[in-house]
Amino acid sequence: MDGAAAPNSESVLGRYRAMIGDGQLAADPAQRLAAEQLDRLWRRLFHYDPHPKAPANGWLGRLLNKRRVDEMPVDYPSGLYLVGEVGRGKSMLMDLFFDAAAVPRKRRVHFHQFMQETHARLHQLQIAAPEADPMAALADLIAAESALLCFDEFQIHDIGDGTILARLFQALFDRAVVMVATSNTLPDDLFRGKPGFETIKPFIALLKSHLDVLVLDAARDYRRERLSTVKTWLVPADGQAERALDAVFADLIGDTMPRAKTITVFGRQLPIPLSAAGVARFDFSALCAQNLGSGDYLAIATHFHTVLIDAVPILSPDNFDEARRFITLIDALYEHRVKLYASAAAEPAALYVAGDGVAIFERTVSRLEEMRSVTYGGLAHLP
Ligand SMILES: Nc1ncnc2c1ncn2[C@@H]1O[C@H](COP(=O)(O)OP(=O)(O)O)[C@@H](O)[C@H]1O
Ligand SMILES: [Mg+2]
Repeated sequence: MDGAAAPNSESVLGRYRAMIGDGQLAADPAQRLAAEQLDRLWRRLFHYDPHPKAPANGWLGRLLNKRRVDEMPVDYPSGLYLVGEVGRGKSMLMDLFFDAAAVPRKRRVHFHQFMQETHARLHQLQIAAPEADPMAALADLIAAESALLCFDEFQIHDIGDGTILARLFQALFDRAVVMVATSNTLPDDLFRGKPGFETIKPFIALLKSHLDVLVLDAARDYRRERLSTVKTWLVPADGQAERALDAVFADLIGDTMPRAKTITVFGRQLPIPLSAAGVARFDFSALCAQNLGSGDYLAIATHFHTVLIDAVPILSPDNFDEARRFITLIDALYEHRVKLYASAAAEPAALYVAGDGVAIFERTVSRLEEMRSVTYGGLAHLP
């Protein structure tokens, strides 16, 4: 390696090495290759600023805007398209790169959010100036905001999005915007097999001509491994436990958007405050201080492979109803091999030590202990 390319502590490789050095990351040859490629891009983007922000109006703005396209930087680098299976470290590597990037105007955004913004902004631009080309106007706006765009979980959801993206990305590339994206899908497989694939093909070709495709063939699913070592019963139920549950939830749902929904139980609607991708999150009180019964708990246990419960309290003899419901809930979750993460005021054995049904609660304690085991974590959900 020549001296100029030696990693310093600010570079992508330097940061990557430091994380391996202090044990945050396990060494992985495929990730190392990706880090090297991101490092090369990091170097080429040092203070990358193709179009210093121009005033939008006035003669100066018009002049600068007019000069833009003719003044494409000679050194306009290709972006990167990181593709691989889940848990291989795509987002981790892109974030590492993004944080390191010494680019004055840069943005990292989940692609789903970017797409929603794009629809909203196009709509606004159409209303504001019905005669003008909204795509060029939008590309001007985006290029003024960001010379580097990092998209997490790039995807084409439908043909309408594909058509918009084809025009928008061409306009952004014309404005020398550099993109880095992560995705679960190779460009050539985006939208494959769906009606309209032929229409999307030119866009795929455009993507491939501006972004180098890098397959991240990491050896392990690090997300799954990390989750298997995460504590599943967090005591006490403080802010730290809440953030740990936030992280578990985010890790499990990946690119899907969490939302409130209802599931139907014997013709009734049971509200689920927050769920996505087969994962649901509840406060203890929403589950066990309401008038819910075994039918509701069975519906939850069959519907979701993982349940997160915030703030399980210590139960006194006066809380017999809560204790009874909690017993029924844990039975349902256990029988259906649902994975449980909870924050609680105490360890299972200290939750309910006096009151009616204490003897039955011992079974619940034993089940909760078993549900914490690695073996239970590896069992398949029984819907
Ligand atoms: N080499 C590694 N060693 C330890 N943990 C890792 C490694 N690579 C990734 N991780 C962790 O594994 C999890 C999944 O990584 P992530 O980048 O989200 O995967 P992807 O985006 O490919 O699905 C993250 O918590 C990440 O920090
Ligand atoms: Mg990811």
